[in-house]
Amino acid sequence: MSQQRIFITGASSGLGAALARAYAAPGVTLGLAARRIEKLETLKGELEGRGSRVEVYSLDVTDRTATQQAIDRFVAVAGGIDLVYANAGVYQNCNPALGHVGEMEEVIDVNVRGAIYTLTAALAHMVQAKAGRLVIIGSIAGFKGLPGGVYSASKVFVRYLADGWRADLAEAGVGVTVIYPGFIATEMTGEGKDYPFLMPADQAARAIKGAVAAGKDEFMLPWQWRLIVPFLRFLPASLFARRF
Ligand SMILES: NC(=O)c1ccc[n+]([C@@H]2O[C@H](COP(=O)([O-])OP(=O)(O)OC[C@H]3O[C@@H](n4cnc5c(N)ncnc54)[C@H](OP(=O)(O)O)[C@@H]3O)[C@@H](O)[C@H]2O)c1
Repeated sequence: MSQQRIFITGASSGLGAALARAYAAPGVTLGLAARRIEKLETLKGELEGRGSRVEVYSLDVTDRTATQQAIDRFVAVAGGIDLVYANAGVYQNCNPALGHVGEMEEVIDVNVRGAIYTLTAALAHMVQAKAGRLVIIGSIAGFKGLPGGVYSASKVFVRYLADGWRADLAEAGVGVTVIYPGFIATEMTGEGKDYPFLMPADQAARAIKGAVAAGKDEFMLPWQWRLIVPFLRFLPASLFARRF
C-alpha cells in the first residue's frame, strides 16, 4: 500500500518530529500538527529541503472541531489521507492522594479524547476511500497499572481501542496499528539517561515506519520489552514508583 499522505499529531517534538523526518521524501505530503506552531514551521523548512510537501497546523487535539477541520484541510490539499498517527500525548506525574484532578483530566483529554478525535476525523475520509491506516501510539505502560496517576490507564484505553476498532474496520478496508514504545529519548523522558533500554527517537521512528509499512497490528520497541512485558503483571507496582 502506498503511504504518501500522512498526518501526524504531536509533531513539534520527540517521536512525532522523528516520524516526520523518517517519512520525509519526494512524493510524500506530510500534515504536521501540534500547539507549538513555530517548531512545526522550523521542521517544515527542514523537510521541504528534502523534497516533501509539508502542511502545518496549529492544533490542540482536545478540540474536536479544530481537529476535524485540520484533517479536512489536509485531505483537501493532499488529495486524500493514507496514514494518520495519533501520537500527541502528555505525561503528568499525579498523585490521587493529593487530588491532581486537573492533571488527570489533561492526560485523559490529550491521550484518550485527542486520540479519538484525531482518528475519527481521518476515518471519515478513509472509510469513503475504503483504504488507509490508523496508527496509535500506546506505551508499554499500557500493560501494567503504574504509579503516577492516569497515564498508564490512558495507554490501556488506546490499546483496547485499537483491538476493537481493528475488528470494526476490517470490512471498511482500514487497518489499525498500535505501537508500544518503551523509553524513547524525547521531551517526555527529559534529561533522564538512566531509563532502561532508552532508544533515540530517530531510531524508534524508523522502526515504527517499517512496522506500519508491513501492516503490523502491533509493534513493541525496543525489542527487549517484548521479552519483559509478559512478566510485568507479576511485578509489584511499587517497583516502578520512583521511575514514573
Ligand atoms: N518518550 C517515551 O519514552 C514514550 C514512551 C511510550 C510512549 N510514548 C508516547 O509517545 C507519544 C509522543 O511523545 P514523546 O515522547 O515524543 O513526547 P514529547 O516530545 O513531549 O511530544 C509530545 C507531543 O505531543 C504534543 N501535544 C501535547 N499536548 C497536545 C495537545 N493538547 N494538542 C496537540 N498536541 C499536543 C506536543 O506538542 P505541543 O506541546 O507543541 O502541542 C508534542 O509534540 C506520546 O503519545 C507518548 O505518550 C512516549
